[in-house]
Amino acid sequence: MALVTTKKMFEMAYKNGYAIGAFNVNNMEITQGIVDAVVEEQAPLILQISKGARDYAKMSYLRAIIDVAVAENPDIPICMHLDHGDTFEICKQCVDDGFTSVMIDASHHSFEENIAMSKKVVDYAHAHGVVVEAELGQLGGIEEHVKGVEDVMAHLTDPDQVVEFVEKTGVDSLAVAIGTSHGAYKFKKEPKLAFDVVQKIQEKLPGFPLVMHGSSSVPKEFKDLINQYGGQMPDAMGVPESAISEASKLALCKVNIDTDLRMALTAKIREVFCTKPAEFDPRKYLAPGRKAITEMVKRKLRVLGCAGKAAECL
Ligand code: G3H
Ligand code: 13P
Ligand code: ZN
Repeated sequence: MALVTTKKMFEMAYKNGYAIGAFNVNNMEITQGIVDAVVEEQAPLILQISKGARDYAKMSYLRAIIDVAVAENPDIPICMHLDHGDTFEICKQCVDDGFTSVMIDASHHSFEENIAMSKKVVDYAHAHGVVVEAELGQLGGIEEHVKGVEDVMAHLTDPDQVVEFVEKTGVDSLAVAIGTSHGAYKFKKEPKLAFDVVQKIQEKLPGFPLVMHGSSSVPKEFKDLINQYGGQMPDAMGVPESAISEASKLALCKVNIDTDLRMALTAKIREVFCTKPAEFDPRKYLAPGRKAITEMVKRKLRVLGCAGKAAECL
């Protein structure tokens, strides 16, 4: 079985009220940790690669790792997606590299410019059988290549713009800003998400798949481990799992998670470094990190409702 697009995944997720987990990969251990989880849970999978991941690991290496995951698991639909492509050129490069889905994130440009850039990517990608995600509204937080806004609630997606945006660009899915941020510091006080915005968009675009970025939950056990073993993440706060579960039942068909993977790996490496300071075999700290990723992703898949849904998405 070859890499798939998100078409069938989103169709089934929308119809049956669940969401597909889109997990960022940067190296072999992270990829293996995620893939082990979807195999155990029989869930469809979106593996996403940022520009930073391409630069860090080299695309040829990431591609080879993902090819093995696809070849060894023919019963699992796997999509390879570009996360936050910020130019036509990077999106084109990824289409040419064999990605089955790309994101053009021109959300920090004007509405008109966002439409023009997104449409240009759609024209190229669709001609090559690749689907496209775009973004309308702006998220907060820190990303390597796209700077987030300070006040997320002031930059939510405007439901009155979505129909024009989707019609003029022809995108296959749309990332919406509903109060989330990238990274581990999403809320200062109470977590608050604008599900009313999702519902309004859903009324205007029935059946159209939406995407939720910045969806890590910043699990307490990993935050505590990191802090216990010398890390500094005292006020980290994520999206509660109950909100992720609620989102998955709405039109939000793709839920992006990166920070939680980083935290799981970091927590376990810190634990080994602190409890076994004589250890210097990388396998002895990377293996527990990889296992923690698997356990965390398995839990996410159940929260998203996509556990057991691999077969219907093939
Ligand atoms: O949304 C951003 C992802 O967490 C990827 O982050 O650009 O540092 O790889 P990155
Ligand atoms: P988190 O930082 O919440 O994991 O979000 C990741 C993301 O949206 C990647 O596009
Ligand atoms: Zn994102």
